[in-house]
Amino acid sequence: MSKTFSLLSFLGAVTPLAIVASQAASTETMNNLQTALRGETNAYTRYQAFAAKADEEGYAGVASLFRAAARSEQIHAANHSAAIKAFGGVPDPKPESPEVKSTRDNLGVAIKGETYERDEMYPAFIRQAESEANSQALQTLRFARAAEVEHAKLYRRALESLAGTKSAQVFYVCPACGFTASNPDSQRCPTCATPKEKFDQVS
Ligand SMILES: [Fe+2]
Ligand SMILES: [Fe+2]
Repeated sequence: MSKTFSLLSFLGAVTPLAIVASQAASTETMNNLQTALRGETNAYTRYQAFAAKADEEGYAGVASLFRAAARSEQIHAANHSAAIKAFGGVPDPKPESPEVKSTRDNLGVAIKGETYERDEMYPAFIRQAESEANSQALQTLRFARAAEVEHAKLYRRALESLAGTKSAQVFYVCPACGFTASNPDSQRCPTCATPKEKFDQVS
């Protein structure tokens, strides 16, 4: 009896180790996470600079949107960093100085970047992580992609009605996954189910 109990305790004790081992990332996924981390880090810096320019040009609503998206990208960068560290890597964000143009042009740059991440970069990285059944990499990559879908829509809407974006606006950002909305219509984050009352308010 005690022998059986000891064996079960042992199996119980090794299960988490087995899970950790099965979560090892391939070199490809590690490189993908580093690339995604660089993309998110530079998007954060770019959007903060674009927000300052939008304020300067009198587009306070667009400035609010850039700051909200910057907060979201910061959350993605933190999530990607945590995954890289969990797989034994060292996060290497490689920050660059952003190029700032007019707000109209900056919105075009933002739409292009979000569209690329939504349609090309993240889908490819997600496919690779799926092939490894790497649930931790999948979570951070899927969270980021889902938010980029919303960012692309919000930026496009802002560009289409630029003249009507003179007033500051509140945006809601999920602190766990970076989901971003001007008016969240459900009680929980549609991506990760975090309750709405925990969302960051950014304006
Ligand atoms: Fe984004
Ligand atoms: Fe979320």
